[in-house]
Amino acid sequence: MSPTTHPLGIDVGGTGIKGAPVDLGVGAFAAERQRVATPETSTPQAVAEVIGGICSTFARQTKGQPVGVTVPAVVSRGVVRTAANIDTSWIGTDADALFSEVLERDVHVLNDADAAGLAEAHYGAARGTKGLVLVTTLGTGIGSALVADGRLLPNSELGHLEVDGVEAESVAANSAREAEDLSWEEWAERLQRYYSTLENLLWPELIVVGGGVSKKAEKFLPLLHLRAPIVPAQLRNDAGIIGAALAAQQMQESARR
Ligand code: BGC
Repeated sequence: MSPTTHPLGIDVGGTGIKGAPVDLGVGAFAAERQRVATPETSTPQAVAEVIGGICSTFARQTKGQPVGVTVPAVVSRGVVRTAANIDTSWIGTDADALFSEVLERDVHVLNDADAAGLAEAHYGAARGTKGLVLVTTLGTGIGSALVADGRLLPNSELGHLEVDGVEAESVAANSAREAEDLSWEEWAERLQRYYSTLENLLWPELIVVGGGVSKKAEKFLPLLHLRAPIVPAQLRNDAGIIGAALAAQQMQESARR
């Protein structure tokens, strides 16, 4: 009998490219994650080579399975449309086609926050929540994902929403807290403005907060007062990889239908 294989999830970030086979039955890595530093000039071709290496490492565990890849950008049907925190040469690249050719596999590329949102909705903090869930990631920028009854509405890009005349992520991302050395209270005031604006527009049932700083959620989430419950993400740094693998499998299934 041939061994069980799993889809591969890959998360492309500003400093590291991380990947692991994902057991979608439980929403967890099926083998230890691999991390490679992001190439200094992170062009699509250079990133494709790194991804190729990660894919070969897990060739046996992922044989015949699709690959999901996250990037910090708008991705519509495989084509990268923006480049807020990545090399501008990504804009206009058909990343699905490029990676599928290099890896000789079905590859599905999606926005990083969308992947994290999908994973939290299926396996994490928003599991089982009916209606609209808003997932945000507070990092270098602010990523967002809207998931309605388990289904992702891609590319919401709510970090770029203008609040009080400024782009939200430039003042409320975790990078702004660090750069301006804000206290938790000062940062929470900005988050309060941001999340209440979002809440008045979208009326989500639940708000999930991810990104590295969600490890310290107890320092700032209790300072926020919103209608919907606001909770930390559960899958932490694994969410992107898990969501990418899930999205790749969902894409493959819908293409077969
Ligand atoms: C980008 C989003 C991304 C987010 C988090 C934003 O600046 O526009 O596409 O999801 O950062 O990386």
